[in-house]
Amino acid sequence: MSALFSPHALGPVELPNRIVVSPMCQYIAQHGMAGNWHLQHLSQLAMSGAGLVMLESTAVEPRGRITHGCLGLYSPETEAALGRAMEFARSFEAPGTRYGIQLGHAGRKASTRVPWRGGAHLSEADPDAEGLPWPTVAPSSLPFGHCAAPSALTHAQLDVIEAAYVAAARAAVRLGFDVVELHCAHGYLLHQFLSPLSNRREDEFGGSVEARQHWPLQVAASVKAALPDHVAFGARITASEWTPGGLDLEHAVDFTRKLKALGANYVCVSSGSVDAGTRIPFAPGFQVPFASAIRRRTGITTRAVGAISEPRQAHEIVADGHADLVALARAFLADPRWVWRAAEELGASTHYPPPYERAKGLRHHAPAKPQPARTAAAAA
Ligand SMILES: Cc1cc2nc3c(=O)[nH]c(=O)nc-3n(C[C@H](O)[C@H](O)[C@H](O)COP(=O)(O)O)c2cc1C
Repeated sequence: MSALFSPHALGPVELPNRIVVSPMCQYIAQHGMAGNWHLQHLSQLAMSGAGLVMLESTAVEPRGRITHGCLGLYSPETEAALGRAMEFARSFEAPGTRYGIQLGHAGRKASTRVPWRGGAHLSEADPDAEGLPWPTVAPSSLPFGHCAAPSALTHAQLDVIEAAYVAAARAAVRLGFDVVELHCAHGYLLHQFLSPLSNRREDEFGGSVEARQHWPLQVAASVKAALPDHVAFGARITASEWTPGGLDLEHAVDFTRKLKALGANYVCVSSGSVDAGTRIPFAPGFQVPFASAIRRRTGITTRAVGAISEPRQAHEIVADGHADLVALARAFLADPRWVWRAAEELGASTHYPPPYERAKGLRHHAPAKPQPARTAAAAA
């Protein structure tokens, strides 16, 4: 059996294979609510055959959205809209598919335009604005690149955001998600607390490594406590900020051990994006060595991500013990049938929805010679 297509127990959650759809913001929600785009997007992914479909970073409060189009889970309306999208998607799912949600808060990277309109900070003066900007918050009043300076969060505000994470986790459980993930990477709020580049606080939440980890671990403990035993819990973490003086692999190992001690079932290992000027050395599988080291040194289930696009490449990451799971993002946008192709290439079997069964094996065959249809019904 191909390692990529072998089942895996992600804590309490049985995954039918090791393939994960990486979380991907769609920037197309309205007031945090999933709409028709999500119906087609999530149903394609649900029927893709991936063992775990991770939903995009979902804001735990409105000011934690990156853009006006970001998904949220912070009100009865956003919960109902996501529930509708999930119910629709599940009706097409491949057997055994599981779903995770990534809970996020953009902190100082909030209040920007959508990427396809430049991603700049929203401005009241911009006549072409997508909507009004909103005040942003962060550990310290240090702006990210072009963004407006955030205000430093007070203790009372931190309590409110922690409660919002817990409320969103409870909503995710009500919606039947199997996995709840904290976004602690890509320069968003929890990462902003961890990083010495963005956290210059002088209270118990800043200064030493332990102090910078304090609030993110407090949030993690509160979210974990809110989850029932049948829901897996994990985090996306950063293994390098690619910046001198920034977070590195040693920090990632230490942070992972602490997450594991409070009950996390896995980490997904990513990197970069806390500093606007950082250059990421992008190359095939460039973050896999980090995942491999974290897996070896902590013993936690590890998900590798980043420029993984070929079935054999994904298979070898798992077969060689570098990671337990592989997440693909852009490859699924380019080809929602990626799992079917991987199964064919690796000699594994996968589920095809009956109306699409006649596509099975097509990719590996020489181009078919045109043949006359036998009957009108057979050709339909
Ligand atoms: C359209 C798009 C949206 C993304 N949104 C998120 C997100 O919501 N949360 C997250 O952790 N990463 C996000 N990412 C990063 C991906 O999950 C992934 O880590 C990255 O694209 C590298 O994987 P890839 O080479 O397979 O695309 C996004 C990437 C893309 C392309």
